[in-house]
Amino acid sequence: MNGWTHPRGVRITEVGPRDGLQNEARPIATDDKVRFVDALSAAGCAEIEVSSFVSPKWVPQLADAEQVFARISRRPGCVYSALVPNLEGLERALAARVDKIAVFTAASETFSRRNTNASIAESLDRIRPVVDGARAARRPIRAYVSCVVRCPYEGPVDGRAVRRVVDSLRGMAVDEIDLGDTIGAAVPDDVDRLCDSLDGALAPSDFVLHLHDTRRTALACALRALQLGVTRFDSSAGGLGGCPFAPGARGNLATEDLCYMLSGCGIETGVDASAIGAAAASVKRTLGDSASR
Ligand code: HMG
Ligand code: MG
Repeated sequence: MNGWTHPRGVRITEVGPRDGLQNEARPIATDDKVRFVDALSAAGCAEIEVSSFVSPKWVPQLADAEQVFARISRRPGCVYSALVPNLEGLERALAARVDKIAVFTAASETFSRRNTNASIAESLDRIRPVVDGARAARRPIRAYVSCVVRCPYEGPVDGRAVRRVVDSLRGMAVDEIDLGDTIGAAVPDDVDRLCDSLDGALAPSDFVLHLHDTRRTALACALRALQLGVTRFDSSAGGLGGCPFAPGARGNLATEDLCYMLSGCGIETGVDASAIGAAAASVKRTLGDSASR
C-alpha cells in the first residue's frame, strides 16, 4: 500500500532553452533556439524559461535573447520567462515582452561572486529594484536561490544560510522562490534537511525545486520532494543543463523522465513526454557531441 498522498497535478517549468543552452560550448543558431522553444510549447509546457537578459560578456551563448523572444510563436496560456540580473536586463526583458521575470542569487558567497560578481548582500541589493520594476510592470517574479545543498567552491551549504536568503526574498514579496541544487549534489535526505531548515519560513508547497542531475539522483530527490509536499519543479528537455560558473554542474532533471514518473503515479502535468523527447532529440542533433548532459 502506498504511504503518501499524491498531488493531483504538478507544475513543471521547462528550463532547457535557458539552463540547457547557456552552457553549450559551440554557438547555437537563433532559429534552432526558436524551433526548440516552439516544440516545447507545442508539447504542452505551461511555462518555459526561454533565455537570459544577462551580460553577453558573461554568457555569450544567450546574447540573442531579444531575437529569440521576437521570433517564438507564443501559445496562448504558456508563460515565457527569462533570467534578469539587473535593471539593464529588466529594461531589455520588458522591451522583449517577457511574461515573467526570474531574478537570481545564491546561498553561497563564493558562488554568488563567481556567478554575478557580487556578494550575496550585494546581489540582493541589485535584485530589489528589479523586483520593484517588474512588479510595476505587472510581471510575476521568480527568485532563484542557487547552491541550496552544496557549492562547487565551498562544499556543503548550511541550511541556515539558505534560510537567511529565503527570508530576504520573502521580504521582497517575490511571487515564487525557486531552490536550486546547482551542481546536482542532492540525495533524498538532503531534501528532508532542506525542508527542515525552512520549517516555519517556507513550506514545501510554497517553493519550486530546481534539480540538476550530475549523479543521477535528481529523480529520487524529486520523488522525495513530492512526498514532502513540493508540487512545482523545474526540468529540462533531454536533461540539458549546467552553469558556466559552477564547475562540475551537469544537466538538469530531464523533463521526459519527470513526466514519465508523474504520469505513472497518476499525477497530471499537461506535458506530452514523448513530444518533449522528440524536441530534445532534435536539439541534441543540432548540438552534436557538445550537448551538456
Ligand atoms: P559585472 O561585469 O559586474 O557588471 O557583471 P557591470 O554592471 O560592471 O557591467 C559590465 C558590462 O556588462 C557593461 O558593459 C554592462 O553594460 C554590461 P560595458 O560597459 O563593459 O560595455 N551589462 C549588460 N549588458 C546587457 N544586459 C545586461 C547587462 N548587465 C551588464 N543585463 C552581471 C554583473 C550580474 C551583469 C554579470 O555577472 C552577469 O550577467 N552574470 C550572469 C551570470 C549567469 O547568467 N549565470 C548563469 C545563470 S544562473 C544559474 O544557472 C543557476 C540557476 O539555473 C539555478 C541553479 O541551478 O541553482 C538559475
Ligand atoms: Mg540551474
